[in-house]
Amino acid sequence: MIDAIYIHIPFCVKKCSYCDFLSFQSDEKTIEKYVENLIKEIRLYPKYDYDTVYFGGGTPSLLKGEQIERILKELNIKENAEVTLELNPKTANSEKIKAFKKAGVNRLSIGIQSFNNKFLKKLGRIHNIEEGIEIYREARRIGFKNISLDLMFSLPDETIEDVKKDMKKLIELNPEHFSIYSLIWEPGTEFYNKLEKGEYQETDNDLEADMYEYIIDYAKKNSYHHYEISNFCKSGYEARHNTKYWRNEEYVGVGLGASGYLNGIRYKNQMKFNSYCDSILIGEKPILEKEVVDNVALEEYRHILGLRLLEEGIIPSDEEKYVKIYKELERDNFLKKVNGRYLLTERGVFLANNIFEKFI
Ligand SMILES: C[S@@+](CC[C@H](N)C(=O)[O-])C[C@H]1O[C@@H](n2cnc3c(N)ncnc32)[C@H](O)[C@@H]1O
Ligand code: SF4
Repeated sequence: MIDAIYIHIPFCVKKCSYCDFLSFQSDEKTIEKYVENLIKEIRLYPKYDYDTVYFGGGTPSLLKGEQIERILKELNIKENAEVTLELNPKTANSEKIKAFKKAGVNRLSIGIQSFNNKFLKKLGRIHNIEEGIEIYREARRIGFKNISLDLMFSLPDETIEDVKKDMKKLIELNPEHFSIYSLIWEPGTEFYNKLEKGEYQETDNDLEADMYEYIIDYAKKNSYHHYEISNFCKSGYEARHNTKYWRNEEYVGVGLGASGYLNGIRYKNQMKFNSYCDSILIGEKPILEKEVVDNVALEEYRHILGLRLLEEGIIPSDEEKYVKIYKELERDNFLKKVNGRYLLTERGVFLANNIFEKFI
């Protein structure tokens, strides 16, 4: 059953120094042209009944409330669906947040990144922390009851004390959900260039593990579930949309460079604006590449995505190849069996990427 859609909005006011997501600066006219194409693309898919809708970016909050409303009107959205929109603090104000709510958005994911203006500057963010907190409070006043905050850690020259301060401020705000990603040095970004020139250093592995351990402990002490490697929530506030990805469920992906997974095929959309629009103009889905997910790939995805869900894990496969891997990982205390499912152990969580490699 297909009941999830990801909608990519590839525009940003300015590129952050660390980010390699598909996004670029644009003007109002181009954004409107994009919205029109997006609507036509949505019409190329069957009318599924959606339980989750996710506007990701780029910066979806760069769109006007009226544009988000027009897109949502194209979709059959079930009652009690989760409709999330990623929001960059500098691109929204009270009127816009009200318009998003009126359009049907009921969950915001706010890109806070850090509670330290020194780091926000370094990251090339367009907002300061006061603006981030104010937009969060405004969203609360307007009536958003499900808000997630996005943060990062392991930034250049960040200390464990900095992480402690960030966690304190984060928990004080009391969001239902937060994601906290350790910095990935993406080739081609300003950060990566500085790393290559020796201006920045990667965080020492032990320090990064200490930071992560502190984050997990502090979040747990404050009643948050650590339900996915980088995601924490209050009871019942797991990100429903993303959880479908981790459960390896199928979903529609629309927009420039968006990925989707339908009828056993994973696909990725055109990455170039003109190619994207050209396909839609002739009434074709703007798909750039496809991967047929055969049984071998299906099992790989099921393991590496499912094990990210720390409280849910995966149902074991009885294939000999996997049984052997489980045995080794259990012996080394990276994997444990709970109620017939395999979960990462506390030790396994810290080395998750190395563990996932074993399943590929
Ligand atoms: C598409 S962005 C969120 C929405 C909006 N564009 C913003 O930044 O406010 C998704 C999240 O991915 C994280 N992210 C982006 N690049 C990253 C990197 N190189 N390493 C770790 N996390 C990264 C950031 O926390 C960011 O909030
Ligand atoms: S982190 Fe968000 S705001 Fe910054 S460039 Fe990436 S997508 Fe845009």
